[in-house]
Order: sequence, then structure tokens, then C-alpha cells
Amino acid sequence: MKNAPPRKGPTVAAKPVAERAKRLVVLVSGSGTNLQALLDEIAAVGAEAYGAKIVAVGADRENIEGLARAERAGLPTFVRKVKDYDSREEWDAALAEAVSSYEPDLVVSAGFMKIVGKEFLARFGGRFVNTHPALLPSFPGAHGVRDALAYGARVTGCTVHFVDDGVDTGPIIAQGVVEVRDEDDESALHERIKEVERRLLVEVVGRLARNGYRIEGRKVVIQ
Ligand code: GRF
Repeated sequence: MKNAPPRKGPTVAAKPVAERAKRLVVLVSGSGTNLQALLDEIAAVGAEAYGAKIVAVGADRENIEGLARAERAGLPTFVRKVKDYDSREEWDAALAEAVSSYEPDLVVSAGFMKIVGKEFLARFGGRFVNTHPALLPSFPGAHGVRDALAYGARVTGCTVHFVDDGVDTGPIIAQGVVEVRDEDDESALHERIKEVERRLLVEVVGRLARNGYRIEGRKVVIQ
């Protein structure tokens, strides 16, 4: 007996239901324009399409525009100040606990000006992303823009990387280049870097969330 002809109907298997949007906790210390760029992109394309949603915003200080942006977006916020704890370790554990309570898939340090400690890295190592306003490994630390300018670098930029236990030393995910102009001062240069940085961060976080990734030594492979 001949095989029955294939039934008419969809020839392509139904698309699997999109994986849920990944959960992001964003940490800030200042104006929060990088946070805003993430919020704007997610609002524009939708969390499913972007691959991630922000579930909470944390800070190490109060009364900053970064927290105000989160509140305007209707997001829960939390503050853990170093000076409220007896030791840096206790602060680190409290920060880790607060972040953990929102069950993030990824944690994004978007201008968060504190170095996290052992406990935080034990919980979020390999899924803690930072953005730095220089081309690492050049000019790590709190004054990446000023240091590049003072050194006389002709190009600088920004680096999105995973955080490890050093200062801006973790595996690099992506970088953006910005030319230094003769007339630049720190603030003008930083503003131009931040334009590139915001786009890069939005792109990188979305790709990590949508595609998944693996870290092989110093190399980050986005699948
Ligand atoms: C960014 O340039 C970040 O790399 C640096 O501080 C800036 C934060 O800007 N550490 P914002 O708070 O996102 O506007």
C-alpha cells in the first residue's frame, strides 16, 4: 500500500514560544543615562523582542537622577550605602541579598561607582556586566576619561565587560571607539563617549539576553 500523501497544512513546525524576557537588575550611582537608554529601548520594542526587562534598580546612594528615572518608570528601587554597614563585607553581602531578591538573570552596572566584593561575585559572577568609559585594559578605575585625556591618547571609548575580582579587568564583551579632539576637556569627551556607550550597552545586553553566551577564559562568545 502506498504511503498516504503528506497532509496539507503548515510545513514549518510552529515556532517555539519565545523564551521569557530575561530579568535585569541595574545598578547606578549617578545620572542614569545608560539606565534610561535601556528603559527606552525596552519600551520601544517590548521586553519580549528585546529579550530582557528591568525588574529593579539599585544604588549606593540616595537622591540621584538614576533612581528618579527608575521611579518614573514605575520600577522598584533599593539603596545600600557602604556607610550604613560595619564593614565593606557586610555591605557587599547586603547588596548581593537585595539584588538576589529580584532573581535577576543578569545584573548591569551602569555607572555604579563601587567595587563589589566576594559575596556579590560568588552569586553573580559571570552574569554581572559593567560599562567603563575607556578602552580597557587602558585607563581602568574611576577616572577613565580624565586619564586618557591626560595621557594624550588620540582615541578612547568605552568597554562593556563582565566583572571579575579586579578593577575593570574582566572579560571584554564589546568596545566602542571615540576620537579625542584637540579642544576636548573631560566633560566634552565623556559626553561623546556616553553617546557611544549607551548604544553599545543596549545592543550588548540585548544580545546576551536573547542569544545566550559563554565565557571561555578571557573570550566572551555570544551564541
Ligand atoms: C558612564 O560613562 C559609565 O561608564 C561611568 O559613569 C558614566 C555613567 O553615566 N562609570 P550615567 O549615570 O549612565 O549617565
